[in-house]
Amino acid sequence: MKKEDTRSEGVTSRLSGFHKLPVGERLGTVSRMFKLSGDDTEAMAGGLGLTTDLANTMIENAIGVFTLPLGLGLNLLVNGRDYVVPMVVEEPSVIAAVSFAARIAREGGGFIAEADDPIMIGQVQVTGYGDATEASNKLLAHKEQLLALANSFHPTLVARGGGARDVEVRVLPAPEGPRGEPLLVLHLLIDTQEAMGANLINTMAEGIAPLVEQVTGGKVYLRILSNLSDRRLARSMVRIPVTSLADFDMSGEAIAEGIVQASRFAVADPYRAATHNKGIMNGIDAMAIAAGQDWRAIEAGAHAFASRDGQYRPLSTWTLEEAHLVGRIELPLALGTVGGPIKIHPQVQAALKLLRTTSARELSMVMASVGLAQNFAAVRALGSVGIQKGHMAMHARCVAVTAGARGHWIEQVTNALVKTGQVKVEKAKEILANLMRDAATEAG
Ligand code: MEV
Repeated sequence: MKKEDTRSEGVTSRLSGFHKLPVGERLGTVSRMFKLSGDDTEAMAGGLGLTTDLANTMIENAIGVFTLPLGLGLNLLVNGRDYVVPMVVEEPSVIAAVSFAARIAREGGGFIAEADDPIMIGQVQVTGYGDATEASNKLLAHKEQLLALANSFHPTLVARGGGARDVEVRVLPAPEGPRGEPLLVLHLLIDTQEAMGANLINTMAEGIAPLVEQVTGGKVYLRILSNLSDRRLARSMVRIPVTSLADFDMSGEAIAEGIVQASRFAVADPYRAATHNKGIMNGIDAMAIAAGQDWRAIEAGAHAFASRDGQYRPLSTWTLEEAHLVGRIELPLALGTVGGPIKIHPQVQAALKLLRTTSARELSMVMASVGLAQNFAAVRALGSVGIQKGHMAMHARCVAVTAGARGHWIEQVTNALVKTGQVKVEKAKEILANLMRDAATEAG
């Protein structure tokens, strides 16, 4: 069910040889392809990034700004549309891995993704209500009033087609045991449209509290969104022909078997599931930061969702189905394309132009696919040759830079270091000195 993309607008994420270009040429390539303005291009490079003045409007006690590397994940095809994915991350290998995985995924038609409507949960905690069943029934009987009151706090959201949609009441056992008062928790389900929604949810939850107290005769304590946004899930799946997995002198079947074993391990063991999911979040967080999202909220939601059956589980699984390796991921993704730092941070605005969407749902489908691609790259390596081989080359690059290599010397020192098998700063210094001396002798 591959859908045709009618919105390619001359954009492709298949930029072969991109990583070999000098940084400036990479930026020029994407700037031309996305027809970025001079300001957006400069923002991408960091020149027109967040100023201290802007930072001062965002947080308290600001004293400056903190920077991290911004790179591009390539080759990603989701629902037939090409995405170049801006990613902010300090860890080597993450971007190379996601781009590599997305390239292999293209061989099976890329990722097929979907996402729920943007329904978020606002929680209102009620105490001193008397009988729990009676109080629940009273709250449900006042559902329409509660919804109308909640919506009165956000007429613009309602005008945009969103707003409070439903009320649910949950009674939970008292943590102190049977002698404590059971917890009565009202859930306000809110369609937040293009917003992540934290502010508007909290406003509505606080706004309905007096009516909740009046209806139940109880006292309300907490009124806050839940980051377990399990009504707002994104899913992605990929089907890769086993034959296209062959690598490292191994057959496609052998590589697929390693990936399926990695998946079984994560399903059975929370110790492994945590690391499996960390790999997924490597991609998701990196994209979330670049796109101005609340990555702590995403993390909290993902891990709570991973524990929903009482054991911490992987967010993705891999199975063999009819000569294809099939990967599936599902997780809550409460994203926004309005509010937060989105309108303030120049690099976030430029990043969203690369992502070519103003839809939070579309963003969540891309993000889920990035997570699945990241996970594929990890389990493919882990289930076969291990990850140290690939990491060693990236590590060698950092060591070369630490040893003083710059420009074209970095590549040369890195290659020589990997060959020696001793990835140490002292060794890198020695190699750099030798290479420079040889070059000077040749020149002179
Ligand atoms: C490293 O940042 C992430 C991995 O550990 C993920 C995994 O083990 O699946 C490689």
